[in-house]
Amino acid sequence: MIRVGIAGIGFMGWIHYLAYQKVRGVKLVAVAEPNEKRLSGDWRDIQGNFGPPGEVVDLSSVACYSDYREMFADPNVDLVDICLPPMMHAEATIAAVNAGKHVFCEKPMALTTGDCRRMVAAAERNSRLLFIGHVLPFVPEYAHALKIVRSGKYGQLLGGSFKRVISDPLWLKDFYDPNGCGGPMLDLHIHDAHFIRLLFGQPTAVTSRGRMRGEVAEYFQTFFQFDDPNLVVSATSGVVNQQGRPFTHGFEIQLEKATLNYELGVYADGIEVMPLKVLPAKGGVMRPKLSGGDMPSSFVDEIKEVIKCVQAGTPSATLDGDLARDAVVLGHKQTESVRKGRTIKV
Ligand SMILES: NC(=O)c1ccc[n+]([C@@H]2O[C@H](COP(=O)([O-])OP(=O)(O)OC[C@H]3O[C@@H](n4cnc5c(N)ncnc54)[C@H](O)[C@@H]3O)[C@@H](O)[C@H]2O)c1
Repeated sequence: MIRVGIAGIGFMGWIHYLAYQKVRGVKLVAVAEPNEKRLSGDWRDIQGNFGPPGEVVDLSSVACYSDYREMFADPNVDLVDICLPPMMHAEATIAAVNAGKHVFCEKPMALTTGDCRRMVAAAERNSRLLFIGHVLPFVPEYAHALKIVRSGKYGQLLGGSFKRVISDPLWLKDFYDPNGCGGPMLDLHIHDAHFIRLLFGQPTAVTSRGRMRGEVAEYFQTFFQFDDPNLVVSATSGVVNQQGRPFTHGFEIQLEKATLNYELGVYADGIEVMPLKVLPAKGGVMRPKLSGGDMPSSFVDEIKEVIKCVQAGTPSATLDGDLARDAVVLGHKQTESVRKGRTIKV
């Protein structure tokens, strides 16, 4: 049985808590949270932009710490799940692996590439496993696309375009702070940067155009360059500062023998989905039946992958720290490209 301690009981701490109830081979043994009400198990003030509202949780058989550093000294904890704000990820991860724990840390891995490198190095030095919570490859449409690409059934990748655009998230106070959430690049686009890295490998250069807001890129379009000049990959991400345009995400992925496409939009009057389709080169339309569905169940699948890897003592081909670090590297190169108005080598 893998014994887990969650650091930070906010929106993600709650979603991860729910997921642990549905994963075999793992037991929640500790939580760390400075908010006294939440530490007593009253999580009713938690409500994110998906999933159910928080509830009153029975923590009587769980060790409760007001600070994560105390939890890292608990010998009953094998795996630390870091659901802290992004600026705490590096310090907390390094302290946890130094204390002998495996770490599963929410995205973005950290705010700087230097911190990401230090996290990977600290995990290696302590022979601990490091997983970064990039849930997108476990969202059914993205998971299925990844499975199709990895199967090789439709030949080599030719390219793809990816989209993730929101209205201004007014509830996130430090969203545009490069030392807080890190802006749309690190909070939002990082999902696609990581997915692009997973599918195509690390780009060799990026060309981005966009609008800045203060020190961070607000809205941007990027072309990613690879050693193979025939790979055509682009992404559109960021904030359109209009509250009537809440959220869209999706992709079109081209392979030699098929194209995959999917799009979802959340509007004031409901959600519209253009379901995942596989369009074979020879004609026709295939609409794969997907399992799972809602966002919380994608976290169950993500956490199953973490637990499977901890049990086997092997890194994850999807959630590994190296991949997540590469996504943060890409994000900073894209911001540099927007700022300087030219192509930037990766
Ligand atoms: N994968 C996704 O789809 C997704 C969605 C939302 C957020 N996130 C990521 O999850 C992370 C957390 O975001 P959130 O929305 O849950 O934030 P949040 O602010 O709701 O929760 C963070 C919690 O950490 C607690 N905390 C602060 N200092 C602490 C300390 N020293 N010890 C223990 N706890 C401490 C805070 O009190 C708070 O309850 C961020 O990195 C965010 O980017 C990921």
